[in-house]
Amino acid sequence: MSKLLLALFCTLLAPAAHAAGDALAGRQAFAKCASCHQVSIPRSGFGPHLHALIGRPAAAATDFRYSAAMRNSGLVWTEDALRSFLKAPDTVVPGTSMRFRGIGSEREIDDLLAYLRTLR
Ligand code: HEC
Repeated sequence: MSKLLLALFCTLLAPAAHAAGDALAGRQAFAKCASCHQVSIPRSGFGPHLHALIGRPAAAATDFRYSAAMRNSGLVWTEDALRSFLKAPDTVVPGTSMRFRGIGSEREIDDLLAYLRTLR
């Protein structure tokens, strides 16, 4: 199969495969992020606040000084973009000031996304 077809195939299948995340488990998993990120009150701390994150353009919190890498990334935080970023922050945004190794478990990312989806 050509790479293009394969990519198309994955794009079509991915949302269905990952649709079910557990928001409650995601809330617990968010403990890893909470030392740097706030969500309940949209206010930035060591990291930018993540309130209403899904669909937000990168570097949009007005009370946070982002790295040039993040400001110039041109990303929009779709679930796909978040999935890639949370797996390997430094690969998706080389030079980001987010010091985080990344999450290896797809399941945990599903749960985190389910939780983040509730923050509107
Ligand atoms: C050690 C602190 C730290 C931890 C832990 C951390 N982050 Fe971050 N995060 C940051 C910083 C700092 C930035 C700003 C990066 C930049 O400007 O390059 C950031 C940026 C982000 C952004 C981009 C936000 C925007 O407004 O564009 C997202 C999304 C994000 N983090 C999600 C998470 C999630 C989800 C977790 C937990 C799995 C997490 N982060 C863990 C410090 C952290």
